[in-house]
Amino acid sequence: MQKDRGQWSSTLGFVLAAAGSAIGLGNIWRFPYVTGTNGGAAFVIIYLACVVFICLPFLLAELVLGRHTQRNPVGAIAAIKKGRAWTLVGGLGVFTGVCILSYYSVIAGWAFGYIFKTILAPAMPHADFASSPLIVLPLFAVFIVLTILVVVGGVRHGIERWAKVLMPVLLLLMVVLIIRGMTLPGAKQGLEFLFKPDFSAVNATVIMAALGHAFFSLSLGMGAIITYGSYLPKNVNLWVAGGSVALFDTLIALMAGLMIFPAVFATGRSPASGPPLVFEVLPAVFAEMPLGMVVAVVFFILLSIAALTSTVSLLEVVTSYFVDERRWTRTKSVWVVGAFCFVIGLPSALSQGASETLGGMSLFGNTSFLFIMDFIWGNLSLAIGALLLCIFVGWVWGIRSAGKELGQGSDLGPWAVRTWGFFIRWVCPVLIFLVLLNLFNVFGD
Ligand code: PHE
Repeated sequence: MQKDRGQWSSTLGFVLAAAGSAIGLGNIWRFPYVTGTNGGAAFVIIYLACVVFICLPFLLAELVLGRHTQRNPVGAIAAIKKGRAWTLVGGLGVFTGVCILSYYSVIAGWAFGYIFKTILAPAMPHADFASSPLIVLPLFAVFIVLTILVVVGGVRHGIERWAKVLMPVLLLLMVVLIIRGMTLPGAKQGLEFLFKPDFSAVNATVIMAALGHAFFSLSLGMGAIITYGSYLPKNVNLWVAGGSVALFDTLIALMAGLMIFPAVFATGRSPASGPPLVFEVLPAVFAEMPLGMVVAVVFFILLSIAALTSTVSLLEVVTSYFVDERRWTRTKSVWVVGAFCFVIGLPSALSQGASETLGGMSLFGNTSFLFIMDFIWGNLSLAIGALLLCIFVGWVWGIRSAGKELGQGSDLGPWAVRTWGFFIRWVCPVLIFLVLLNLFNVFGD
């Protein structure tokens, strides 16, 4: 094995690191607001269906590809099929990683900043916070540097060691906040919003949002799981490892819903407040609670921890590409890519009002640059990447070879691999394709 690559120490090490990648702002910031704006329970059910029928088989495909080739997304594809066209699919993944990291770190910087804002300036409105360049830019930079420092440590001593400590802490903190939420007067309404579906409002956008979010939340479609899978030893059971990651991630998203919606209803606010939901609504909710400041500080520490283990995986994808393909050292890759992400993240960081504060114009008017980035890279690009990767694994590489890798380390019968193959060749690509077509209104309204 090539120097500078590394390997997880155990299945648990992998599961915690991959769950750390999956669990992040996607679960705690994005899932509640997307659920809120897309009507609640019906969205949740479609999202869960996407996780089980599309994302889970696809997650295994990424793991298989990564472990078999022991490469980054670009190298993994090239190791199986030479040729520019398919390599570009890996390239799209790496590029998507850079783009997601660039705006994701902006939001992560807010979460980090809110730990201090809660104590130092509790009355400051979120809009003032997000539109102040002197606040958001340093936070954005600090978050990228934190990410760099973890990734520089490498696979086992950086990512795995941190994930092993941070993930259990996160889980514990969430349980405390849910218990608090369940004792609020809005608990029943919150539960109904989350679990009592009304399918009348479901349309193409809602379905795309659910599918895109399922990919985003599980870190799929851009090679993060290929990369993490590439550090897996051969004796690990991929079904168990992959299944645990999907289960954990979904559990944490639902827990985030349980943590947030009762609180939203308890204070008579709208669940459809959009992206600022967590940042605008929750501090106000906390302020009305006994020990509110402590709870708020705990919550934003939790959100920052979750975000960090995800930004680490985004940076790791790009780093592994430079380490494997360009023979850069890990240290050089990490700093260069980190700096690049900071530069291309600047418009996102300034798009929440800070560019106007600086005397410039508003970036892209009301639909901010940040959310355009989120839609293109955090939604569309992941679904397109996943569609292409399904075709690659199912048809180009072939189910027989891929299935052999999947079977290694597991004692499930051939039926399991055959079922998986059917999903990767037919079910996943066809469904993803239909959802994408639907988005472009091919089937009418
Ligand atoms: N899954 C992460 C989250 O939910 C975000 C992410 C997306 C990380 C894609 C890596 C790759 O926050």
